Amino acid sequence: MSSVLAPELETISWRRMDGPELVHAARAALAGPGVLRVSEFPTTTREYLRFLRAFGEPLRYYGSDAGTHPEASEIWQIKYDPESAARGETHALAGPLSAHSSQSLRDPRPRFFSMLMVNAGWQHLPLRTNGESVLAPWRLAVETMRADLGAAFDSVRQALLDEVPFPDGSSRTVAYQLASARSVDDLGIRLKSDLLPFLEQAWPMHRGTHAVRHLVDAAQKTALRISLQSGDLVLLDNDRWGHGRESVVGTAQNLGGELTLNPRELWSVTID
Ligand SMILES: [Fe+2]
Repeated sequence: MSSVLAPELETISWRRMDGPELVHAARAALAGPGVLRVSEFPTTTREYLRFLRAFGEPLRYYGSDAGTHPEASEIWQIKYDPESAARGETHALAGPLSAHSSQSLRDPRPRFFSMLMVNAGWQHLPLRTNGESVLAPWRLAVETMRADLGAAFDSVRQALLDEVPFPDGSSRTVAYQLASARSVDDLGIRLKSDLLPFLEQAWPMHRGTHAVRHLVDAAQKTALRISLQSGDLVLLDNDRWGHGRESVVGTAQNLGGELTLNPRELWSVTID
């Protein structure tokens, strides 16, 4: 087992600070641990984007228009949708989403990623089925791999720094050096949620496949898991932190036998 300690998630209340003070505190948290939570944040698209613009430019959502918020093209609105879940769309699925990076194919990497929980939805279900957020500090995952893999670690780390085939036909490195690195294990990571399933299917013997599997396992073991409340905003360094979530139960039958939908709603924005 590793002796590495998990970082704390710093939380600031939106009500207790004025705008400039909040931005200042958030910048300090991003430059330090690389993540923070702002609680009691207003759940309006206007306030959300206004706050995020203090950190850079919110990018237009890159996927299909289906998830775009009707009020703002920068916001991706994540709600349980039985039709897109049936089509197997990522994020629409009820199952867990392992830690991944925002816009993993974009170069240079977008600097920040944010989520705002608008409606936490059903929170009474068994642990890890309430859509708990998964926040994965990559440095901690790499340090844990170093502690667990012993002599095999150096070649696994190098395999992450060498190019591997990506599902879009390109070759890219999963890990990259950061100009502001604080240690040899403080690497930037780009991880698409479909990368490991793709590598396992198309390149089962590739050393990169083996290395990515170790990284995903280590991130799974070391990630923070938090139940976001409605009005909780998370802002994170997209080089240093992956994000994901535990399972969500999308539908349930009420006492009258009618099918009801989980009202969970999350907004996400990538900032460059
Ligand atoms: Fe995501």
